[in-house]
Amino acid sequence: RIVSVTAREILDSRGNPTVEAEVALAGGVRACASVPSGASTGAFEAVELRDGDGGRYGGKGVLRAAGNVDGPICEALAGLDATDTTAVDRALLTLDGTPNKVHLGANAMLAASIACARAAAVACNLPLYRFLGGVSAQVLPVPMMNVLNGGAHATNSIDVQEFMIMPVGAPSFGEGVRWCAEVFHALRSLLVEEGLSASVGDEGGCAPDLPGDEQAIEYLLRAMERAGYRPGEDFVLAMDAAASEWKTADGYRLPKAGKSCTADELIEHWRSLAERYPIRSIEDPVGEEDWDAWRRITEALGDRLQLVGDDFFVTNTARLERGMEHGCANAILIKPNQIGTLTETMDAMRTARRNGYASIVSHRSGETSDTLIADLAVALNAGQIKTGAPSRGERVAKYNRLLRIEQELSGGGIWPGKKCFL
Ligand code: PGA
Ligand code: ZN
Repeated sequence: RIVSVTAREILDSRGNPTVEAEVALAGGVRACASVPSGASTGAFEAVELRDGDGGRYGGKGVLRAAGNVDGPICEALAGLDATDTTAVDRALLTLDGTPNKVHLGANAMLAASIACARAAAVACNLPLYRFLGGVSAQVLPVPMMNVLNGGAHATNSIDVQEFMIMPVGAPSFGEGVRWCAEVFHALRSLLVEEGLSASVGDEGGCAPDLPGDEQAIEYLLRAMERAGYRPGEDFVLAMDAAASEWKTADGYRLPKAGKSCTADELIEHWRSLAERYPIRSIEDPVGEEDWDAWRRITEALGDRLQLVGDDFFVTNTARLERGMEHGCANAILIKPNQIGTLTETMDAMRTARRNGYASIVSHRSGETSDTLIADLAVALNAGQIKTGAPSRGERVAKYNRLLRIEQELSGGGIWPGKKCFL
């Protein structure tokens, strides 16, 4: 039984305030959970409640959201059985009563939702992935490691937000992590040798000034070779264009390059890149409201590429279903704070699974050391996780949690390798 739910304002990895909730159960179990925050947020995400008081944190304080946890959320959840995640989340949704969580704030709701599940797992003496996923939770996710940052996550000259490496040829999760870390180190020394910056962006990847996406990809391939791996065999590439950031009234404009193009030119650009390089996955290749462009790119490239809806689907089952009806995308990025409760997050993952869409569980660019997403990926056997470079503590915390889970699962769990793509 839940005795109390309280909250406090803590800092995220960008030094902005965020919500941490703490749940106490009868019997003395306590657990905390904190929530992340995006920079390139989708227009259709659930509302992140911020104080707007310019005298504190430039208006970004979350005292109101924390107050909602201490007050109405605590009152609504007290007495409920914490192990009934659906009932806890239903109580949160009823209390909020709005489609986009504007009343309580998705940050307040999600922190409470996760803290309850974590406390329940402790009370049941189960690891969180087992509590959430039951006996079938077995699959370690293939990392999509974002080793080169651009877009809204860095102040460099690259418009594409993320260049990621996936160690699909590795024999296990642990080996995959090692391979990625080795490539990351090779990349940093390559950049330094060529007089480029090896300092990192928000998600821990290098953020050098480069003329464009082809040069970024070339560096990744050279780093793989230098570390002794075969591009296309041992590793494939994934990108997040975050193209909603580029949308204008009648097309797209890449803000850093200062170039404009149409949706069809953008699609042709991705097609040409994917033809020349071992790219296997592209996220948000076109804008979040460009349904027609999403349909066209899926038709043209969907059989060869994983096309991932992030800002497009915002972990929202209704938007995912609409996308499926219209033949848009073939995978969904899963960010719990885009929707606001664990139940709705897992519902989106199950809906994707039933319809042959892949799920990639994901961090945000502003993170905390909370490792929920590592457990969530294993709980629902997602097969892929995106949680940054092997650099910066808040990114590494998730990979380290997965290394522990791998050791805990009998036989090291199941590593999907190249089969991680549906
Ligand atoms: P965000 O970016 O957390 O800044 O929204 C992550 C992503 O676009 O995948
Ligand atoms: Zn994205």
